[in-house]
Amino acid sequence: MAKVEKGRAERIRLELVRRGAVRIDFHIEEVAGQVLIPINDMISDSELLALGAEAVNGNAEARRNYRAPYEEIVREAVIPSDLKDRLPNKWELLGDVLLIRLEPELLPYKAGIAETYARTLHARAVCLETGGITGVHRTPQVEVIFGVGSETVHKENGILYKLDVAKVMFSSGNMEEKRRMASLDCRGETIADMFAGIGYFSLPLALHAKAKRVVACEINPLAFGYLVQNIELNHLQEIIQPFLGDNRTLPCGHWADRVLMGYVGTTEQFLPKAFELVKNGGVVHYHMLCPIDEFPERGVRQILESAGEMKIEVLRQEEVKSYAPAISHYVIDFRVLF
Ligand SMILES: C[S@@+](CC[C@H](N)C(=O)[O-])C[C@H]1O[C@@H](n2cnc3c(N)ncnc32)[C@H](O)[C@@H]1O
Repeated sequence: MAKVEKGRAERIRLELVRRGAVRIDFHIEEVAGQVLIPINDMISDSELLALGAEAVNGNAEARRNYRAPYEEIVREAVIPSDLKDRLPNKWELLGDVLLIRLEPELLPYKAGIAETYARTLHARAVCLETGGITGVHRTPQVEVIFGVGSETVHKENGILYKLDVAKVMFSSGNMEEKRRMASLDCRGETIADMFAGIGYFSLPLALHAKAKRVVACEINPLAFGYLVQNIELNHLQEIIQPFLGDNRTLPCGHWADRVLMGYVGTTEQFLPKAFELVKNGGVVHYHMLCPIDEFPERGVRQILESAGEMKIEVLRQEEVKSYAPAISHYVIDFRVLF
């Protein structure tokens, strides 16, 4: 639970609601001038402290007659009862567009199922994920199965991201990494985001980390279009300079204090360019896919192979998320010295 002084409770409650962190299945209580707000794991203890609240243990009183959305969906879905336990209990709500996956047995009922999820979760449209994210442009394989249109504006960590959920990827799995980028102190820095997408890292670096300038490069014209709109939506035109094209055509000359390589699969092919962009003493965030038993050696070897005469100092190496059995998405932060 989050413990807050009564005078500040409403402001903090609203902020927690905005972040999707308040549990609505439990009551809020007041004890001796302190308000106890039941929260979920969408917010960390340190984020609570930053808001002016304290994380405490305790048992809040459950709201009677409250039914969790998933229970409601299972109850309401018009499908054979032996299939009800196959209904997905995980989904992704981006703005007002819902993304779900369905097991093959449920596909004949997809229209009705989508309508039930949309009604319960207040979504305008429902998209079915039919495959993974493919190709250089990172295109999702998605079918709209309820509602019209799949363009939406999603808010995350105080940033607005406009996107078409059916046409460009949104990497929710990288939420912690996006938060980490937002928490950096980049004042005075010029940053090269080599794989900008719709602005996943460029926007938090400009808005929260206070970078002086971000050059955001994106090769997919569709994602680039949303990048440009998102820069405007978040009023960051003075800071972020969008660049449409292959990042290997970015001007070289060691102008970047920080280089982001937020792409997985063949990222090592772009390391020579990162070494051309980064300043002496600058930092590179190198993302990669790697078998878990070969990390970090494989990544460090790839970096050293491109470094030539330059020296590197590894600052941090971390798993971003699991990708496939025994394969993870990792990030290595390293400093370049020459
Ligand atoms: C994984 S997405 C960006 C995701 C974001 N950085 C994140 O991790 O949340 C990678 C983006 O890089 C773009 N891309 C791929 N190759 C590129 C290249 N050579 N130059 C510029 N952009 C490229 C893709 O079109 C895609 O939008």
